[in-house]
Amino acid sequence: MANYDAVFQHSLEKPEEFWAEAAKSITWFKKYDKVLDSTKAPFYKWFPGGKMNTCYNAIDRHVEGGRADQIAIIYDSPVTDTLKKITYRDLLEQVSTFAGGLASQGVVKGDTVVIYMPMIPEAAIAMLACARLGAIHSVVFGGFAPHELAIRIDHAQPKLLITASGAIEGKKVLSYKPLVDSAIEQSTHEVKKVILFQRDIVKSEMIPGRDVDWAELVSNSKPVGCTEVDATDPLYILYTSGTTGMPKGVIRDNGGHAVALYWTMKNLYNINPGDVWWSASDVGWVVGHSYIVYAPLLQGSTTVFYEGKPVGTPDAGAFWRVISQHKVKSLFTAPTAFRAIKKEDPNGLLFSKYDTSCFECLYLAGERTDPDTLHWAEKLIGVPIIDHWWQTETGWAIVGNCRGIEEMPVKEGSPTKPLPGYDVRIVNDEGDVVPKGIEGNIVIKLPLPPGTLTTLWRNDERFIKSYMSKFPGYYETSDGGFIDDDGYVYVMGRMDDVINIAGHRLSTGAMEEIISNHPDIAECAVFGADDQMKGQLPVGLFVVKAGVTRDGEEIKKELVKMVRETIGPIACFKDACQVVRLPKTRSGKILRGTMRSIANNKEYKAPSTIDDPAILVEITETLAKMGYVKK
Ligand code: COA
Ligand code: AMP
Repeated sequence: MANYDAVFQHSLEKPEEFWAEAAKSITWFKKYDKVLDSTKAPFYKWFPGGKMNTCYNAIDRHVEGGRADQIAIIYDSPVTDTLKKITYRDLLEQVSTFAGGLASQGVVKGDTVVIYMPMIPEAAIAMLACARLGAIHSVVFGGFAPHELAIRIDHAQPKLLITASGAIEGKKVLSYKPLVDSAIEQSTHEVKKVILFQRDIVKSEMIPGRDVDWAELVSNSKPVGCTEVDATDPLYILYTSGTTGMPKGVIRDNGGHAVALYWTMKNLYNINPGDVWWSASDVGWVVGHSYIVYAPLLQGSTTVFYEGKPVGTPDAGAFWRVISQHKVKSLFTAPTAFRAIKKEDPNGLLFSKYDTSCFECLYLAGERTDPDTLHWAEKLIGVPIIDHWWQTETGWAIVGNCRGIEEMPVKEGSPTKPLPGYDVRIVNDEGDVVPKGIEGNIVIKLPLPPGTLTTLWRNDERFIKSYMSKFPGYYETSDGGFIDDDGYVYVMGRMDDVINIAGHRLSTGAMEEIISNHPDIAECAVFGADDQMKGQLPVGLFVVKAGVTRDGEEIKKELVKMVRETIGPIACFKDACQVVRLPKTRSGKILRGTMRSIANNKEYKAPSTIDDPAILVEITETLAKMGYVKK
């Protein structure tokens, strides 16, 4: 077995040699001229001059290479009581025909396409069909409300939008079409065509002239081949929460992405072609892009597409049932899913009902794995529980335990060590590297490895400002943490106004922008309070305008409704309270960090620039009444 340290050192000392070796796993229509072009740093280009197609690498070559009859996708949907297995041959047929349909609607290389779909295989088919044509997809998570979809439509300016008639969320049947119609109405960019996949669970009305039925389109279309794209051409845009209401459109390229993701399947996850792999996330998130769709298919393994929840569909044994039934080798999900299972079935009675001897490892990400959940899962399942840290921006793990290279001992609270390609450092606010064990900003020395963001869609300036400016020469992760004497990285949480709710990334700034639009609100602050189940939940404190005498509870209900209707249910904004004033510095900056510490019962030191320290007493009392501050 290889040695992690040697592999890691090689990746930092000779990145071009390292990634050129990894690039051999990808089929190139034309070999790249260079591995890395740094001439326009920090806009690095991996594999410039290379010609390829991501869909070809994810499907066609497996069919040509002897995997035609292997299962590519297992669609397991307890909510609709459906089980479907799609071979690589079937997948090729479906993707190439749907791509033909998209082409007949005018989609060509370089066009953008927005996809708003539930966890059905057609979501992957839509993504791969775009990749086949060299079109750039932008998948929007189904839990976002029409307003958020509209923001993304306006920014991505899609040629067309692909959706489904609806979804089942737990036990609720949701109709997607009214949401899509409302988003299109709200957006200024004109969406000329909507391709709609009708599901049996809910049917949608079609708008004549604009809406195209998926099944009809496919029945009238012929399969098309793969369009050659540059390795550096964009594969997708994925919007993620920043600190304001305007999300960031992370851009992923084709070549570097394929190389890096392929590499991780064996080296990080210890998965081989043909193995069954399951990432229990959603195609709307980065984990879904990378590890439900692209990485397993690029490698030629089998990916489980699960339309259900860890609990309630039908019970807390759902994960064990899927693992056992489909012989899943490894599962990747968020710790919150395990907290939900633990709550419903603390003694693991449902676990013992299933034969999970096929199961080798559980990978967790999206938020820090808390020691309680780690130990509970370890004891129950008896396989390694591996935490790993990453971000939408990086597309794959920054820090993890490369089990395919050398499995390292797990240290509770740490996702282990930096992955090859990531030169992780901890710096203070002045940019100086701090000693081992001292907390600071986690940064990554440039260049980032292949597969990470190349820029933000139509916003190079924001890319520089958000990630590259504060610490020149480094990528700013916006996470804080430290590295211990053994080189283990500890990620302690975001340093900005981004919070993590059930493994989902949301912006408190965006929630504040919505609340501020309420006619009675003078100012407000939203921050994350620790939550046993979801990791964090947003809490709002608001001050009303002079002369407003209405009941604060009434206003709170309106604010909750506004956030739900504007961002979506996924924001989980349910708690807020009126206060007389908010704590601020003398220059007027609201002390959100201090309030967060108070709500989370953490020690805090009020900044010396605080305007009036007495306000903190009032805030503490309010947060105690709300049930956050424990006396
Ligand atoms: N479409 C529409 N609504 C959605 C949705 C979707 N795709 N996904 C979630 N929602 C809704 C939920 O129904 C819920 O609505 P409600 O307020 O009316 O109840 C709300 O958004 C919050 O959803 P969620 O945070 O998922 O809470 P939950 O109580 O339904 O489920 C867990 C809790 C822990 C079971 C669930 O969050 C989970 O499975 N998490 C796994 C995490 C994960 O996949 N992370 C991805 C990164 S790895
Ligand atoms: P997202 O872009 O949605 O993947 O969210 C990225 C953020 O989630 C990171 O910046 C971290 O704050 C948090 N995160 C993800 N994985 C982990 C982890 N394993 N440990 C701690 N935080 C994590």
